[in-house]
Amino acid sequence: MPRPASVYRCQQCGFASPKPGTCPDCKRASGELVPLVEERAAPVAPGARRAALAAGTRPQALKDVAMERGDRTLTGIGELDRVLGGGLVRGSLVLIGGDPGVGKSTLVLQAARALARVSPPVLYVTAEESAAQVKLRADRLGIGGDGLLLWAESDLGAVQAELDTVKPRALVVDSIQTVFLPELESAPGSVAQVRECGARLMTLAKGRGLATFLVGHVTKDGSLAGPRVLEHLVDTVLYFEGEQHHAYRVLRAVKNRFGSTNEIGVFEMAGSGLVEVPNPSGFFLAERPAEAPGSVVVSALEGTRPLLLELQALVTRASFGTPRRTVLGADYNRVCLLLAVLEKRAGLPIGGQDVFVNVAGGGRVNEPAADLGVVIAAASSYLERPVPPDVLVLGEVGLTGEVRAVNGIEVRLRAAAQLGFKTAIVPRSNVEGSLPMAVKGVATVSDALGALLG
Ligand code: TYD
Ligand code: MG
Repeated sequence: MPRPASVYRCQQCGFASPKPGTCPDCKRASGELVPLVEERAAPVAPGARRAALAAGTRPQALKDVAMERGDRTLTGIGELDRVLGGGLVRGSLVLIGGDPGVGKSTLVLQAARALARVSPPVLYVTAEESAAQVKLRADRLGIGGDGLLLWAESDLGAVQAELDTVKPRALVVDSIQTVFLPELESAPGSVAQVRECGARLMTLAKGRGLATFLVGHVTKDGSLAGPRVLEHLVDTVLYFEGEQHHAYRVLRAVKNRFGSTNEIGVFEMAGSGLVEVPNPSGFFLAERPAEAPGSVVVSALEGTRPLLLELQALVTRASFGTPRRTVLGADYNRVCLLLAVLEKRAGLPIGGQDVFVNVAGGGRVNEPAADLGVVIAAASSYLERPVPPDVLVLGEVGLTGEVRAVNGIEVRLRAAAQLGFKTAIVPRSNVEGSLPMAVKGVATVSDALGALLG
């Protein structure tokens, strides 16, 4: 038998070439020289690739297709269920990506425990840590063993062989970069392995109706390590994010075949694992200083869910040279634009001042609806006049200083009203019908400054 031919593959984008060298695609995209790695192509039996998605089916009329809508299991972790689109779908493959140490293993272990309660058994395959290490974490989280099977194994072939004996209702694989298929010669974590392991797990998930959680690592630039095909393959991609020095973590759906991608789940990393934060706004506003200049509360919309965040600005005389602009938690260019509007349209001479903008508590806001909040915070700091603590500020700001309408005004205001806010400064075009709290409509930045800071 002839020796199988080698291919040389880029480990970042999956580009394949018959010759060694560096990846032309990555060079074009980022200027980086990524070496191609040799892979011995494993002989693939004819037909072996045909996924068992629906073996032996024929085309059928749309109206005859059986619905599987009821096949959801609530994990019991409300924030996770919400992000999944209302529970875990039978036979779905869910990829959870995130930086090292953000808490992916903790999250899947807690999810596995919760699932083991409602639909045991659950098989947790750890290819990264030893069973003892996972046990240590489980003890810390107060997780007992009922219905939860732990297995330190990185050979996916062995896992597959065991499924018939164990018959798990859900499977966790931690992580996709450390498991491997022995028939491939490439190392675990290589593009070929990640792709084939992903495809194998997909086949198992669909063929057996086995809900599967996959943990994935992210690279320096924040995308999931391994080939993009993995993201295309799986049903759901969730990112687990958090700032290193803050306890809160956000689970965000970036792809979901069974639900909206706008939803987020919020957790706090505590000594005893991840704790759901059903009211994240209270969390972010907990330490808000009263009557301090430069602090403004905005209501950002994450999917269907309003999130109240405190924007802080500090405007101070530039000590030397070019004034500095430092922005944390918001878009730098957007903030620079807003400061320019504040200077030019409202006549506040802040061009020569250092400006620092921060979202308190390590939060992040990427919405135009927070524009007016940034402008007011900067003005409030410059003028040394505080914004009243029970006032909410909403509005998109245009280059001529006009304040434009925002979407979802009602939900945003309702959330604020629940937390005790009394008045909102909103775009004039949003003022209509009955709104959940007293509002003052403004048409320009100057209007807003006049209304709030005199
Ligand atoms: P881990 O789930 O191992 O992260 P990942 O799998 O994403 O790499 O969690 C790592 C961090 O979480 C670690 O720095 C310690 C912290 N942690 C807690 O603060 N409380 C806990 O109960 C647990 C289990 C972890
Ligand atoms: Mg881990």
